Amino acid sequence: MGLLGDMNPTEVRKDFPFYDKFGDSLIYMDSACQTLRPRSVIDVIVEYYTDYPACAGRSVHRLATQVTLRVDEARGLIHDFFNAGPERSLVFTKNCTEAINVVAKGFPFKRGDVVLTSDVEHNSNNLPWQQMVRQRGIRRECVRTDERGILDLEDLKEKMSHRVKMVSLGHTSNVTGVSIPPREIIEIARDHDALVMLDGAQTAPHQRVDLCAMDVDFYTLSLHKMLGPSGVGALIARDDLLTNMEPLISGGGTVETAGHEEFTLLPPPERFEAGLLNYAGIIGSGEAVRYLGSIGMDEVEEHELLLNRVLTSMLMDIEGVEIIGPLEPELRPSLVSFNVQGLSSHDVAMIIDEMGKVLIRSGMHCAHPFFRKIGKNGCARASLYIYNTIPECRSFAQILEKLVGTFSR
Ligand SMILES: Cc1ncc(COP(=O)(O)O)c(C=O)c1O
Repeated sequence: MGLLGDMNPTEVRKDFPFYDKFGDSLIYMDSACQTLRPRSVIDVIVEYYTDYPACAGRSVHRLATQVTLRVDEARGLIHDFFNAGPERSLVFTKNCTEAINVVAKGFPFKRGDVVLTSDVEHNSNNLPWQQMVRQRGIRRECVRTDERGILDLEDLKEKMSHRVKMVSLGHTSNVTGVSIPPREIIEIARDHDALVMLDGAQTAPHQRVDLCAMDVDFYTLSLHKMLGPSGVGALIARDDLLTNMEPLISGGGTVETAGHEEFTLLPPPERFEAGLLNYAGIIGSGEAVRYLGSIGMDEVEEHELLLNRVLTSMLMDIEGVEIIGPLEPELRPSLVSFNVQGLSSHDVAMIIDEMGKVLIRSGMHCAHPFFRKIGKNGCARASLYIYNTIPECRSFAQILEKLVGTFSR
């Protein structure tokens, strides 16, 4: 069994109430959608609702002050976890999708500006740009990926020009699991004075992300994919850029002053956080990164790779199973996507749940353009995290083999 620093997955599982309830009876391999939560995250959420269920930054009574302090603490913990540096602010959003929309809709793009994405993006980094094409007259172009889902850097270089204002790419694909090389991409963009936004939804939970070292302009996150409560995301971005952006939504908590004819916005991050926030979720997110930090991201990455090597080698031995994306687990340590000959991905997911209580994702994974490109109607995806074990990977592969033997045509 692989080691997670000083801990092993058996120890880690003791921190997750899910395993108190289900023991080894369920195999949870849908962490790329949402991870399970450790007890400490659930505890701070309950604590918020029982001990200080107030709002931050408005009332000045003792409970509200406590919320303000805990929200500030969570913001600081997440900011530090990503080494965001003094020049970047962290804006809380309800998910990664909202964080991308804050940038797409709020950045002062002009008609004719070009935004580059790729052909393997999640719809969250696809649809907002299509809206901006319609509403603001920007142009969107897609950089090619090859048949394994690896970004074609030559194509990126060819598509760069003085008209490209922003390069907006998924740091790691939720379908293939492949990561792009951020430093190389940022250097290419810088040579053309273009800004870079990276969608870190599938990266931040699995590897060390150092925003200062990367020197990225905008980085977006899903806290629910990294042990945090559901419905919390974040945008971490350069203050000088945020200061020149329009908030996606406006209202309470965002202004220094307002009249009937005018208002003066607060500096970032407050100007982007209108209305009452998900305080329990934010405080829980702070605890989630504290927990992850106590394990260590290098250990997380190492553990996933260890599991994925076992899983991949067993899957490759099953006739009728086709892996989507690269065959090498080193290129996609957190997940494996696949199809079974003669069965739809939803059939595979439902049967594998029925046969072995294995919980995986199926379908188009909000990446319809990618599946159109490769001419497939979706795939099944098993995604791994710190609580998964090698015996679980073996059971998964054995059940899949049985499934293929029984149902595949
Ligand atoms: C690569 C990628 N980007 C964005 C998202 C959207 O994340 P959220 O559900 O937090 O908006 C996902 C969700 O699966 C994703 O995998």
